[in-house]
Amino acid sequence: MANNDITSSSSSSSSLPVREIPGSYGLPLLGPLTDRFNYSWFQGPEKFFRKRIEKNKSTVFRTNVPPSFPFFLANPNVVAVLDCKSFAHMFDMELVEKKNTLVGDWMPSTRFTGDRRVCAYLDTSEPQHEQIKNFAMDTLKRSSTVWVPTLTTLLDTMWDNIESQLASGPVSYLVPIQKFIFAFTSLCIAGADPANSPDIADKGYMRMDRWLAVQLLPSVPITTFQPLVEIFLHSFPYPYFLVSRDYNKLYKFVENEAKEVISRGQTEFKLSKEDATHNLLFILGFNAFGGFSILFPSLLSALASDKTGIQEKLRKEVREKVGPASGLSLRSVQEMDLVQSFVYETLRLNPPVPLQYGRARKDFELSSHDSVFKIKKGELLCGYQPLVMRDPKVFDDPETFVPDRFTGEKGKELLTYLYWSNGPQSGMPSGSNKQCAGKDYVTLTTSLFLAHMFLRYDSVTIANASFTAVDKPTP
Ligand code: HEM
Repeated sequence: MANNDITSSSSSSSSLPVREIPGSYGLPLLGPLTDRFNYSWFQGPEKFFRKRIEKNKSTVFRTNVPPSFPFFLANPNVVAVLDCKSFAHMFDMELVEKKNTLVGDWMPSTRFTGDRRVCAYLDTSEPQHEQIKNFAMDTLKRSSTVWVPTLTTLLDTMWDNIESQLASGPVSYLVPIQKFIFAFTSLCIAGADPANSPDIADKGYMRMDRWLAVQLLPSVPITTFQPLVEIFLHSFPYPYFLVSRDYNKLYKFVENEAKEVISRGQTEFKLSKEDATHNLLFILGFNAFGGFSILFPSLLSALASDKTGIQEKLRKEVREKVGPASGLSLRSVQEMDLVQSFVYETLRLNPPVPLQYGRARKDFELSSHDSVFKIKKGELLCGYQPLVMRDPKVFDDPETFVPDRFTGEKGKELLTYLYWSNGPQSGMPSGSNKQCAGKDYVTLTTSLFLAHMFLRYDSVTIANASFTAVDKPTP
């Protein structure tokens, strides 16, 4: 393992040669258009970035990323940072600004978020950022007492339903999991019970899906159904009116059901009622529901592809750490090293938010493992996490899913290089950085999900995003 010499941007890199940033943006209009087609169509993002690493013999280079010409008012020019060391500069808020950079140089209309820029689009230099981030973290902290009982109750209901359908064949897990995530995050984060609103109980998750899809589709690469996708999905931003009904229903639900949380936002964090409500809805829908909706299926697909007998090892650890009297708890799950490592490894190989951006606040020197590059104020850095998280200078056997990679002392040290939350797993989200406010809740919840499954079942059989069998312990 070669991770000892990899440190963040603050370390001295004086021994490394200074190199001109390789790569180019090509001819005006043509360069961005060719790169866009390669990225979204001919190559897909992974091959796109890999090929350019090889061509430029560097993990730092200039390129264009979509969206761009003709109808996006966005500058597609970026400096790609594709190893752990160069990527980490984006966590240094003295070096980079994160104003409106959530999805790149472009941002979806603020109509999608009640005509305001919500927390994820605010830079740390904007006073509202700290107010709203603290509101988000306080809300999570307060919910910690209901987190485990809510999760257990909702998961038991989900599994009971799945079991009842299994007799007639495989059961796709996508809808049951989304319904679970919607109810769980609404109850835990907003204190809002979907069961109190028949429309939301039934369609809340679909309304969230549509609201998310219409904002994000222009920037999500889809290599199938081309060139139709390029022409119809990637050429212009979508208007808000397509999902205004969905958003208004969700807003009303949060406004009516999350009164206590919203009022705390007003009294303790000095937010207006509207700021508190729109931000709470964004945290609930975009951050939490959106993030878990990608992470849980990745977790199950990692279990499905395992050939090493991992289910037996996970089951053994879970049942050892959960005594019959004590039950599942935030404390017991923190003692499950293998379960947590499995979750970390899923996040390493499938980071749910694959791209991160940051704009240089000033001229500065950025180091990769082998060179130093001069970045100019205003340039946009772009990191593609799925490649960064397979940096061979940090992770042994980087392409392989190694379930126990993050166990033991050496494994714990590696958490410094696990970046899914826009910061190291060993770091702390705060008002002065842009790390995910839910960093620890996400990994603990996902570990609890796994632990609950292996308390309930000896094993599960998964194929094609469906459960095909569950094996219950014999009483
Ligand atoms: C699997 C689930 C989740 C994933 C993958 C995820 C991922 C991320 C990422 C990558 C960012 C940084 C985006 C950027 O600036 O580039 C972020 C920010 C954020 N996340 Fe999460 N998140 C998840 C769940 C949650 C949850 C449960 C909360 C609940 C409070 C949350 C709250 C936030 C907030 C408030 C920010 C903005 C931070 C800031 O502006 O400083 N996230 N999340």
